[in-house]
Amino acid sequence: MRNVTTTAAFFETMYRRHVDPWNFEGSSYEQERYVKILESVDGRRYSRAFEPGCSIGVLTRNLAGLCDRLEAREISPTAASNAKERCKDLPQVHLECGSLPEAMPAGEFDLIVFSEIGYYFEEEELRVIVDHLANKLSPGGYFIAVHWLGTSADHLLSGDAVHGVIRECALLSLDDQKRYAHFRLDRMVRR
Ligand SMILES: C[S@@+](CC[C@H](N)C(=O)[O-])C[C@H]1O[C@@H](n2cnc3c(N)ncnc32)[C@H](O)[C@@H]1O
Repeated sequence: MRNVTTTAAFFETMYRRHVDPWNFEGSSYEQERYVKILESVDGRRYSRAFEPGCSIGVLTRNLAGLCDRLEAREISPTAASNAKERCKDLPQVHLECGSLPEAMPAGEFDLIVFSEIGYYFEEEELRVIVDHLANKLSPGGYFIAVHWLGTSADHLLSGDAVHGVIRECALLSLDDQKRYAHFRLDRMVRR
């Protein structure tokens, strides 16, 4: 059985109480994170990207300009519906309500943005998900991992533990690493 803080019901209750529970639209922490993510992926054009756990679509909108097609999945129906509304003018965004690991879009990607979602899985499940995602990357494709370094009773793993698992994936090699005051970012490349 999944830990209660990682279930669809848990996230759905959160999004019904508050449209933007992490203040993705307004917080300086989130804005700084988005700037650093975009710095890390900019300079390339992506034919097919994937953002699992897209929440209300704020990062999704930021990424969309770099992508010919951007798949996004979100476990909470309310958040997914808000994300669809936010991205409705962006035909390259294909967003559905669905939960990892089951709701993996078919096909290959050249960019996966794994942002603040890894700590909602047990270590072994995360390992399987990262392997599966890495297998879906084309050679040279980017796997961008970004996680907060604080502690939360809702998380099953710390941000550092999540990045530890990702770095152990045999299909990925470390291309760039950044550690900021409150979060870290690893850019991994598909071998
Ligand atoms: C902290 S938010 C991160 C949002 C966005 N990726 C960003 O960095 O701005 C994590 C999101 O992942 C979603 N989520 C958690 N577990 C999930 C799963 N197994 N499958 C899909 N989405 C999930 C949550 O509902 C939440 O909206």
